[in-house]
Amino acid sequence: MSSAKILSLPNELLLAIVAAGQELEEGSVAVQQLRPEWTWSQVCRRFRDVIVGAPGLWTIIDLDLHSDTLADIANLYFTRSQACILNVTLRESKDIDNDSFVAEQLSIVVPHIHRIRQLRVFLSADPQIVLAPLRHVNASNLERLEIRNTLDEFETNPVELFSAGAQMLRFIGMKGITPHFPVPWAAALTHLELRGGDMWTSAEGSSWGVTIATQCPSLGHLALNMVDISIGRLHLPCLKFLHISLSDPEEDYNHLLTIFDLFDAPALVEFTINGTHADQIMVLFNSTSLPHSSFPALTSLTFIIDSCVCNEIPDGVRPISSSPPLFPLLSSLSLIQQCFTSYLAAGVLSSLHLWPVLKTLTLCPPAGEPLEDVCDALWNACHSKSQVLPKFRLFASLLARIKDREDEEDEKSGMDVELFDPTELINIFG
Ligand SMILES: *[C@@H]1O[C@H](CO)[C@@H](O)[C@H](O)[C@H]1NC(C)=O
Ligand SMILES: *[C@@H]1O[C@H](CO)[C@@H](O)[C@H](O)[C@H]1NC(C)=O
Ligand SMILES: *[C@@H]1O[C@H](CO)[C@@H](O)[C@H](O)[C@H]1NC(C)=O
Ligand SMILES: *[C@@H]1O[C@H](CO)[C@@H](O)[C@H](O)[C@H]1NC(C)=O
Ligand SMILES: *[C@@H]1O[C@H](CO)[C@@H](O)[C@H](O)[C@H]1NC(C)=O
Repeated sequence: MSSAKILSLPNELLLAIVAAGQELEEGSVAVQQLRPEWTWSQVCRRFRDVIVGAPGLWTIIDLDLHSDTLADIANLYFTRSQACILNVTLRESKDIDNDSFVAEQLSIVVPHIHRIRQLRVFLSADPQIVLAPLRHVNASNLERLEIRNTLDEFETNPVELFSAGAQMLRFIGMKGITPHFPVPWAAALTHLELRGGDMWTSAEGSSWGVTIATQCPSLGHLALNMVDISIGRLHLPCLKFLHISLSDPEEDYNHLLTIFDLFDAPALVEFTINGTHADQIMVLFNSTSLPHSSFPALTSLTFIIDSCVCNEIPDGVRPISSSPPLFPLLSSLSLIQQCFTSYLAAGVLSSLHLWPVLKTLTLCPPAGEPLEDVCDALWNACHSKSQVLPKFRLFASLLARIKDREDEEDEKSGMDVELFDPTELINIFG
């Protein structure tokens, strides 16, 4: 566009262009240097007046806690947005050593907290000090709260937030800190993600799990790091998605079974567990029931581990022989970097009558496992032809190995295969 054409843009079109520019940047995690409302309002006097007079264009606020001009910029947005609802991001662009200073900077949002719908805070500081300004306020329009603290030098006690209310709050995503309960808004929470840190050790009194379950009965989505049996039993009637990371990978064969039995979540649809071992999975699959839990709605189950040092399968856990099935509706099973993948896969494929609706088996063997073994397990299952096999989603090198095998044998396996990249799945626990 020539500059003359730009200058003749009608007001409505100008506003639409600025709003579209903001939408493009939505969700971006990086600090936004050139916000469209700034760039466009600097073109000429008319543009400035039009944009400054549109409160809706000043509702996405992204502030650098390190900046000396934070208060000025914040107040400009607060004024220009008039009474509109706001989405606010506060971040430390570089490490600030003075936590009281960060708290003072952050407190600039407090007088407007009732207008904030989404609050994201990215910091590296002692959360007890820095988040103190948010402790006793009433965030009456807040729906979504994300706080990521990258400082893990010391264990922190749970942080009290919005003790005067947050009646609309449904989503909490936290890393490196945990919320303090009880709070009046906990009962309505539907989404809780607590990542990073050894968060259970500092809890006093009753176990954390029991606290979460009793305080947040509406949870549909729960993600917890570092779960061990001291978390206690959790009764979560609405829970559909559960992601957990186990804290002690060296536990005994029955550990996974014990962990499953902690979650009384009859509506659970998707369960992902990080830190599992092949022997524990086999003991689980070999069980016919759990004393306290059942998973009648579970359709997707994923086991994943970073690295595993297992070198043998204990006697007595073979073969997988559970009946009736623990997971009658399971349609997708994923084994990511699990040692003895070939053994687990062969076990499942030779007992398909116990997996009545299994449609997908995802296999990403660890680097140490010979691909040939996994390939053999699948090849043999195809040749036994006793059952309809599930679709296989395979890690690239394993898929390539299967293709090579077909060429070598000059025979199609007849498998239904698809490429699978586990990167995203692995990163959710990072
Ligand atoms: C830390 O910040 C507070 C509040 O801004 C200030 O009063 C104090 O002097 C600062 N301390 C240091 C060591 O800079
Ligand atoms: C503002 O926050 C709400 C609630 O989390 C979200 O749905 C919406 O997409 C956000 N809008 C922008 C422009 O970031
Ligand atoms: C918080 O604000 C909401 C909305 O203004 C109000 O209904 C509620 O009573 C307030 N809570 C407290 C404890 O002041
Ligand atoms: C799993 O949990 C361990 C800690 O138990 C952690 O170090 C690792 O990053 C997590 N992620 C994956 C993909 O294993
Ligand atoms: C596997 O299941 C069978 C039959 O219930 C049982 O006898 C056996 O002890 C189980 N093995 C293990 C290691 O749990």
